[in-house]
Amino acid sequence: MKILLTGGAGYIGSHTTVALLTAGYNVVVLDDFSNSSPEAVRRMEKLTGKAISLYEANAADKAKVFEILKREMPESIIHFAGLKAVGESVEKPVEYYRNNIDTTLTLLECMRDLGLSRFVFSSSATVYGEAHTPPFTEEMTKGSCTNPYGWTKWIQEQILADAQEASEKGLISGWKTPLSVVMLRYFNPVGSHESGLIGEDPQGIPNNLMPFISQVAVGMRDKLIVFGDDYDTPDGTCRRDYIHVMDLAEGHVKAAEYAAAHEGIEVFNLGSGKPYSVLEMVEAFSKACGHDIAYEIGARRAGDIQDSWANAEKAKRLLGWEAKRGIEEICHDAWKWQSQNPNGYGE
Ligand code: UD1
Repeated sequence: MKILLTGGAGYIGSHTTVALLTAGYNVVVLDDFSNSSPEAVRRMEKLTGKAISLYEANAADKAKVFEILKREMPESIIHFAGLKAVGESVEKPVEYYRNNIDTTLTLLECMRDLGLSRFVFSSSATVYGEAHTPPFTEEMTKGSCTNPYGWTKWIQEQILADAQEASEKGLISGWKTPLSVVMLRYFNPVGSHESGLIGEDPQGIPNNLMPFISQVAVGMRDKLIVFGDDYDTPDGTCRRDYIHVMDLAEGHVKAAEYAAAHEGIEVFNLGSGKPYSVLEMVEAFSKACGHDIAYEIGARRAGDIQDSWANAEKAKRLLGWEAKRGIEEICHDAWKWQSQNPNGYGE
């Protein structure tokens, strides 16, 4: 099976590319390198000993996307490409809505015109909002998002559901078989491939916890600011479901296989089902790197929810997937990547 990945050189995309190549699939990567590096593609090829067909293009560039899809005619598309910085999305909502929603509409239009029908979508647990108490299950109603980035995921899910329903009813000419859509709601992807060759390479000051801790550990930053210790949790800090990025990548392999074997639409949580607090992550990372991580307690961050973790039973039942790697392996692999590549993919 040939699978095209938009954003295939990015953090989750690159790990998924490696997992797909390892599982024996042909991979085509489409990436505009706006938040990723061609070096990641070279490393993926080195790691797997396999060639990757690479196209430098923005997933919202309809003429280019159509030409690439027509040439490659992939059996499935996994759509990762998108802007993803929560804080930036508050400052640049128009760019976030334009870019993220355009990519999905463009892909759907091109797929319809070419009769391609399998789509796996990178969604986020952020769509649950604050309306529910964890563990979150897929049938819970979607909540209210706290930022434009979250809303772009929420809206893209809705677009996919509406397009799938219309294709199912035969209302859209182009799709001879109904669209097969799998939407994956990620919890907190962290860590890196065990080789330390590929990993997360944030530009500028990291927004997310694990890359920030990693940069403190390697001496690039003085200390972590813990965003609030007055939450109603055992140690007062927020709890999240941290999932090893290779577990997540393997979840995509299963999702692509599921989309190939079923028609219809399904949504799956991809999480470990186990919550850890910010301070527990700091402690686990200091064990992995062998020294203390300096931190200071700061104010709460606007938009943070206290608790978020998955009920991942549905993915286990229908995809035969569950997270296998624990917090020690997460921190070990994150440290390996960071210590071997203090400047990420740069020199
Ligand atoms: C956020 C987004 C999520 C997105 C993810 C990856 C929301 C509600 N969540 O998740 O949609 O997919 O980023 O981009 O929009 N923390 C600190 N100090 C730091 C950084 C983080 O204490 O310097 C804490 C946060 O308060 C939080 C935890 O660490 O409790 C995890 O934060 P982060 O890694 O940013 O992920 P989320 O906010 O859970």
